[in-house]
Amino acid sequence: MNFPSPDPDCLRFLSIEGGDGAGKTTQIQLLTTALEGLGRKVTKVRDPGGTPLGDRLRSLLLDRPVAIDLRAEALLFFASRAQLVSEQIRPALQRGEIVLTDRYTLSTFVYQGHAGGLNLAELDLASNLATSGMEPSLCFLLDLDTNTASTRRVRPEDHMERLPRTFHDAVRNGFLTEAQKPKRNILVLDAREDPLPLHKKILDRVKAHLGILS
Ligand code: TYD
Repeated sequence: MNFPSPDPDCLRFLSIEGGDGAGKTTQIQLLTTALEGLGRKVTKVRDPGGTPLGDRLRSLLLDRPVAIDLRAEALLFFASRAQLVSEQIRPALQRGEIVLTDRYTLSTFVYQGHAGGLNLAELDLASNLATSGMEPSLCFLLDLDTNTASTRRVRPEDHMERLPRTFHDAVRNGFLTEAQKPKRNILVLDAREDPLPLHKKILDRVKAHLGILS
C-alpha cells in the first residue's frame, strides 16, 4: 500500500475511525476545542460529505432512495472523498492547519472490503485514484463491541446501520485487522471508556505526534 503519503503536509492530517456509535463525533469535538485552545487552527471534515457534492452523495449512500450495487457504493464513497480532498483537505493542509476527519479511506477498506467482500488490492488502486495517496499520518480507532454500540444509538438507523449484526461484527474485526498494519499508524482505543479520559489519551498522542509542547 502506498502510504503514509510522502506529502509532508500529511503530518497534520489525522483521522478518527470506528464502528457506528463508538463516539467519534464527541472525540472530534473535544480534540478540536483542545487544539484550538492551544492556538492551532483546525479544519474538521466528515466522510462521506463535507462538500456540496459529498453531501449529495452522502444522502444517496445513507438514505438509499435507489438501489446501489456494492462496487458502485464503493466508488461513490471514493467520489465523495476525492471531492473532499480537493475542496477541503488539501487546501486546509496547505494553509498550515490541522485536519481532523471523521472517517476516511480506512472505512471503505473495512465496510466495503473486509465486511462487504470487495477485494482489498482493487480498493487500494481506486483509493489512490481518489485521494492521490493523501492519507492521515495518524488514526485513532475507537473500538466498541456491537452490543454496546447498538445500545448507544439515539437517532434513526441509516442504511449501513440497518445491516445485520454479522456485518457489524465483520466491520469491527476488519478495523482490528487493519490496525495490525504498521503503515496505517492506528492507535486502538477502548471506546467503552468515559469520554474525558479517552480524550486525554487522544490529545496526548496528538501533541506528541505534532511536537506540541504545552
Ligand atoms: P456516519 O453517520 O458518518 O458515521 P457514524 O454512524 O459513525 O456517525 O455514517 C457513515 C456510514 O457510512 C457509516 O455506517 C460507515 C459507512 N461508510 C462506509 O460504508 N464506507 C466508507 O468509505 C465510509 C467513509 C463510511
